[in-house]
Amino acid sequence: MNVKEKDKAYIAGTYSRFPVVLTHGKGSYVWDEDGRRYLDLGSGIGVNIFGYADEEWTAAVTAELGKLAHTSNLYHTSPCAELAEALVRATGLKKVFFCNSGAEANECAIKTARKWGEEHKSPEYYNIITLKGGFHGRTLAALAATGQEEYHKDFLPLTPGFVTVDPEDAEGLECAASEHKCAAVMLETIQGEGGVVPLSERFLLAAADVAKRHELLLIVDEVQTGMGRTGAFYSYMPFGLSPDIVTSAKGLGGGLPIGATLFGERTAEVLTPGTHGSTFGGNPAVCAGALNVVGRLTPEFLAEVSRKGEKLASALRGAEGIRSVTGRGLMLGVLTEKPAGDVLSALRGEGVLALKAKDKVRLLPPLTISDEEISLAADVIRKVCAK
Ligand SMILES: Cc1ncc(COP(=O)(O)O)c(C=O)c1O
Repeated sequence: MNVKEKDKAYIAGTYSRFPVVLTHGKGSYVWDEDGRRYLDLGSGIGVNIFGYADEEWTAAVTAELGKLAHTSNLYHTSPCAELAEALVRATGLKKVFFCNSGAEANECAIKTARKWGEEHKSPEYYNIITLKGGFHGRTLAALAATGQEEYHKDFLPLTPGFVTVDPEDAEGLECAASEHKCAAVMLETIQGEGGVVPLSERFLLAAADVAKRHELLLIVDEVQTGMGRTGAFYSYMPFGLSPDIVTSAKGLGGGLPIGATLFGERTAEVLTPGTHGSTFGGNPAVCAGALNVVGRLTPEFLAEVSRKGEKLASALRGAEGIRSVTGRGLMLGVLTEKPAGDVLSALRGEGVLALKAKDKVRLLPPLTISDEEISLAADVIRKVCAK
């Protein structure tokens, strides 16, 4: 059997994979088993922020792999402590819990909000207000937090304790906070899986205001938007928000699995020994790679992400067959006249890989994509989208 046949025979059928077997990559390019080269505008769904086989990141990981690939959270290790310090310094938040994925980072946020509600209000204050169209992962509590019914069906009953309101509906948010006994508001600043839908500054500030007045925690899910993706270290920062909990994953790993839940002043001491844990969380090799990622997100690097994102977006806006371009930095959603799935297939035929989010073509290229690669990507996308 070849790779595709083995995959079909032996791997649980949760993914509708593209008919491509990838073997290796370098920079913004990846190759398939037939030696075909693709410009990858998906970066492993926003993970490979320095592209494939980045030398600095690989060196950081391999140096640690050869020393201490894994131990356990029964012991202290340097990469894990250094990474926590780097994240705290970058954000002004106070403490970090490490796990292995975005969903787990959100599970930790949800558990923390519940424990905080119990301790600072009373046990029935466990509800978390989330937004329709939001996506927070596929584990059971993260799934209940995800405001999209299509992911819920087949897995009912949902974990209780979530109240969903419409994004941009500040009044609805206010009503939910008044009518339910709540611990937190949880949101993404740009709903990624929901179709690259940015929330307005007005709504984000209103959500922070509701959280403040009703004494709720503000949880910002930065799993997709974080790590420079939108041109800021975390996407909430340019809005001046002060979240109590921030969740991070994807690009933080730079190519290896990691999740992080960051706690502010009000939540830093909520989790205590035995209340949460993860065997692999804080793994030294993964943390060494993440430390390299965080260290390279300088103001100059982030400004370049914004510039490149604007270059790509403006090369696509108004082109034939393109209805709109949403998003910020190098997180873009392109609404095309042709169905997004057809556009992706045609792009693949032209040697370009991209993603889908709802009815849009989603672009999450490596943050190191060059100007020439952006021009090439824009040319191919425009050609494919034109009638
Ligand atoms: C905003 C957001 N939160 C959480 C997740 C879940 O992350 P993971 O797939 O690492 O569990 C995702 C994944 O796409 C995401 O975009």
